[in-house]
Amino acid sequence: MKSDVRVVPLERIAAPFLAIALGTSNTTNGKVPSSLLGLESHLQGALGRVLDSGDFKGERDETAVVYPAKGPKRVMLVGLGKGEEFTRGALRRAASIAARKAVAAGAESMAFFVPPEGRGGITPTAIGQVALEGAGQGAWQFKELKAPDEKRVKLRSFELIASREDRADMERGRKIGAAIAVGQRLARNLQALPGNVCTPTYLTTIARQLGQAYGFRVTAIGRQQLEKAGMGGILAVAQGSAEDPQLISLEYHGTKKSAPICLVGKGVTFDSGGISIKPAQNMEDMKYDMSGAAAVLGTFEMLGQLKPEVNVVGLIPATENLPSGTAIKPGDVIKSHFGKTIEIVNTDAEGRLILADALSHARRFKPACVIDAATLTGAITVALGSQAIGLMGNDEQLISEIRKAGESAGERCWPLPLWDEFRELNKSDVADVKNSGGRGAGSISAGWFLREFVDGFPWAHLDIAGTAYTDRDTAPMAKGPTGIGVRLFSEFILTRAGG
Ligand code: BES
Ligand code: MN
Ligand code: ZN
Repeated sequence: MKSDVRVVPLERIAAPFLAIALGTSNTTNGKVPSSLLGLESHLQGALGRVLDSGDFKGERDETAVVYPAKGPKRVMLVGLGKGEEFTRGALRRAASIAARKAVAAGAESMAFFVPPEGRGGITPTAIGQVALEGAGQGAWQFKELKAPDEKRVKLRSFELIASREDRADMERGRKIGAAIAVGQRLARNLQALPGNVCTPTYLTTIARQLGQAYGFRVTAIGRQQLEKAGMGGILAVAQGSAEDPQLISLEYHGTKKSAPICLVGKGVTFDSGGISIKPAQNMEDMKYDMSGAAAVLGTFEMLGQLKPEVNVVGLIPATENLPSGTAIKPGDVIKSHFGKTIEIVNTDAEGRLILADALSHARRFKPACVIDAATLTGAITVALGSQAIGLMGNDEQLISEIRKAGESAGERCWPLPLWDEFRELNKSDVADVKNSGGRGAGSISAGWFLREFVDGFPWAHLDIAGTAYTDRDTAPMAKGPTGIGVRLFSEFILTRAGG
């Protein structure tokens, strides 16, 4: 999708679809905002009649369409919500809904306008950014594995309509939002691919392609070298699978100063549970168990496009988790890269095993901080549903920085405590730790397990099991993979890079 910012009277737009975002504060007294009066006279009062009808009040997710005789083929009003809800989140959501409607209407291009009236504190730069993020989110479709269809439409062009004063700022935001949207699209595409296509080596191929395109240093090691390196956690999970496991690293160098931010993404390309096998119902969703890896790769796409002044390392431990005659068994004890021994009491608690090795490996980069993203526990869905990422860590400042980034990115994080008392849950009779702490506090014991392998850097863990994919359509998001983490990581990195 190409995008640009244009200064043009709305009535002269030729696109097949013009969306205008309005909050309830824009529609009080049924008055058309003055920035729309030119269009309104062109439409011979149609917008006023929509407002008079009461069919559109500017409430969240509301839409109404009028069909002009000339100019844009369709003009859609899209609701932002109450005045106090005029936020980045509301705008991103409205842009996404508009893009989804444009695609549904068969439009290949669209224009988007946010009237200056009642914008509140949101800056033109932020509008540019979130409009592009939303448009990319709404326009996303995954048809790669279906027969080609000539009638299928794709949104190819997105124009943000600006006033002369706002143009430069909106353009700055547009570039950021477009780069984040491309990253999020990559993440969702990778997530959507099934386990027989998106294997660990496939993730390596994608990492190498990013490296080629943007000049990152990319390395990946397979089973043999993992053995030499003593990556006992990754090897344990991989030993039941014919697919070669991979430990992938990507290095983005954007400044001479400062230690790197290190992002770690769980890359289980299919999680059957192993010998502790999962129930058949919805097991196909376990192709999404590489969503953390997808978030890291998507973030690197953003880095390649924006080239911020910051250093970032991405680490992806990737493997399948399958049962077989060679698979790990409950009761087995393995030795991790860090050196601690682990009793495997449940082979379905595999994510923490591969992350333990990656976190241990992260030390060699002398990172400023490490953030991991992982579809780690079903328990996080019990706690937070699909509304928030579970956030844990060893550094309060990092945690609050991530929460702030999550708020602006519209990928909210909610903290869970890693109190010392919870550490006991992972005590093993035979090894240094065991890989499952039981049902109670399941997300926290998983977090504490990871913490056993963290040494010498501020660290935070994002449990994205509840937010990585959805099982039904919502107004702003199609059913399926969400690309969660890309916006959050991007916001975090760009803030650290200085905006
Ligand atoms: N990949 C799963 C977690 C998951 C569950 C992700 C549902 C997305 C949706 C993870 O590897 C897992 O199986 N966790 C177990 C841990 C338990 C055995 C301690 C779980 O949550 O049941
Ligand atoms: Mn599992
Ligand atoms: Zn898993």
